[in-house]
Amino acid sequence: MPASRPDLALLPRPTKVSPLGGRLVLDRDTAVRALPGAEPAAALLRSLAGPATGLPLAPSPEGRIVLALDEQLGGLGEEGYGLTVGPQALLLRAAHPTGLLRGIQTVRQLLPAEALSGGARGSGSWELPCVEITDVPDRPWRGAMLDVARHFQPVGYLRRYVDLLALHKLNTLHLHLTDDQGWRMPVDAYPRLTSVGSRRSRSQKGPSGPDGAHFDAVPHEGAYTKAELRGLVRYAAERGVTVVPEIEMPGHVRAALAAYPELGNDPARKLDVWTRWGVCDTVLGVHEGVFDFCRAVLEEVMDVFPSPYIHIGGEECPTTEWENSPAARERAAAEGLADPAALHGWFMGRIGAFLVERGRIPLGWAETGTELPLDFTVMTWRDPSHALAAARRGHQVIAAHHRATYLDYAQTGDPSEPVAQPGAPVTLRTVHGHEPAPAAWAEAERARVLGTQAQLWTEYVRTPEEIEYLSYPRLCALADRSWSGGRGDWPGFVERLRHHTARLDALGVPYRPLDARSLAATTYASPSSGTARPLS
Ligand code: ACM
Repeated sequence: MPASRPDLALLPRPTKVSPLGGRLVLDRDTAVRALPGAEPAAALLRSLAGPATGLPLAPSPEGRIVLALDEQLGGLGEEGYGLTVGPQALLLRAAHPTGLLRGIQTVRQLLPAEALSGGARGSGSWELPCVEITDVPDRPWRGAMLDVARHFQPVGYLRRYVDLLALHKLNTLHLHLTDDQGWRMPVDAYPRLTSVGSRRSRSQKGPSGPDGAHFDAVPHEGAYTKAELRGLVRYAAERGVTVVPEIEMPGHVRAALAAYPELGNDPARKLDVWTRWGVCDTVLGVHEGVFDFCRAVLEEVMDVFPSPYIHIGGEECPTTEWENSPAARERAAAEGLADPAALHGWFMGRIGAFLVERGRIPLGWAETGTELPLDFTVMTWRDPSHALAAARRGHQVIAAHHRATYLDYAQTGDPSEPVAQPGAPVTLRTVHGHEPAPAAWAEAERARVLGTQAQLWTEYVRTPEEIEYLSYPRLCALADRSWSGGRGDWPGFVERLRHHTARLDALGVPYRPLDARSLAATTYASPSSGTARPLS
C-alpha cells in the first residue's frame, strides 16, 4: 500500500494493523462462504458491497471470502474481530455475530472508495491490500443522538443515517422522538399525540435576538408509523446498530399537552405545539392519570424498540408550575417530599422503576450527575465534572458533554458557518480530543463509563444536507476516538481523514470541507466551564 494511505486510512483506527504485501482480487467468480452463525454478516456484505461493486459475491461452500464465528476470539468481546486478507482468500473471524458486522465495514473500507458507491461498477474486479487486522473497541457505547422532534426526518433518511453510523462502527442511534415542538412516535392508546402533537403552525427562525424571536410562516409536521420504526430497528440491527428511543418527561412535553391538556397542571388551558426554541415552562402534572399515560406510552415504545435502554429525558424541567399548583404541592407533601421541586426526582424514580420492572434500563439526561436514582444510566451533558460525580455515585455513564459532543454548535469560528446553536464552536479537534473517561480518574470510576455519543439538536437544522454537513467530519472524529480510546492521535486522525473523505464523497455526504480552519488544532471549550448550555 502506498505510504500515502496511513494504516490503510481505516477510520476508526483499528487496534492492530499489519500490512502483508500483495493484493486480493475480487471478481465475478469470488464467492462467500459463511460458516454457521455468520450468515447475517454475509448478507450484509452482499447487500452493501454487492450492488456497489457490481459483483455477485454469491454464497458457496468453496468461497474464498470466509466468514466464521470463532469462540477462541472471545477475548475480543462482542464487537471485536480478526481479519486476514491474503492473496488468495479473506478470512474474517469474531466470537460474536456483531464483531463480524464490524469487520464487514473494515472490508468495505479496504476496497477503493469508488467501490462504496457503484461509481466504477463496470470495472469487473476490485483489489484489496493484503493485511492482518485485530480490532476491538475501547468502550461499548459509541453513539449519535438525532433530534427528529424539532425537525422531522423521514424514515428513509434515518436508514441512510444508520448506514453512515455503521460505516464508522458507531453502534447506537439515539432517536429523540418527542419534545415541546413535536411528537413523532405513534401511540395507539393516545392517538392525538401524533394527530395533534406532530404538527406546529410555524417555527422560530434562528436564535432570539435583542428584539425577541422571529418566525417563519411554514407549518412543520411529521410522525412515523410503527411499521416504519420496526423496519428501522430491523435495518439497524442488520448493521449492528441499536436504536434507543427517547420519550421526554416530565418537561419538554408541550406537544403532548397540546394534544391532551388534562396531562398538565392546568387542564382548562389550551396550549399549542410550541413554535419557539428554548426551555418551555409547561410540564406534566403529577396526578395518577399522568403516570398511567407515561406507562401506556412506554409499553408501546418497548413493544416497538427492543433496545435494553429506554431514554426518558428528564432535563430542563422548570418546577414553577408545580410550585404554583395546589394539587402538585399536596402531592409533594403526601409523598413526604421536602418541596415541589423534589417531585422531579420522585417522578423520574417512579418511571425508572417501571422500566426496570419491565426488564429495561432507564436512561436520563443528568444535569448534575447526582440527581437521578442509581437504576438510571445517565448521559451527563452539562459539565465533565458531572460525569465523574455520577460515576462516583455508582451510575453507569455516557459522556455527552455539550462542549465536546454537541454538533449543533458551529464547527469553526468562521462567520460564514451556517446558523448554529449560539455559543463557541465545537471544533473537530475538540471532538477528537474528548476523553469520556479521563486517565486521571480512579479505575472504578473509569469502568463505569460506557462510552460517549454525539448530539445533533435540530432547532436550526432542517434538511439531511444540513444534518450531514454538521455531522461530518465531526462524527468521524467521535468514532475514531471512541473506538480507539487513548490511542487516537490527532495528527494520525487528520492524515487518515484526508483519505477517508474520498469514501464520504463516494457516498455523497456533504461534509464540511477540510480546510485550514476545520483542521486547526483549536479548541474553544473550557472543558470544566460549569455553565449550562445557552438557550435561545
Ligand atoms: C439537552 O441538551 N437538552 C440535554
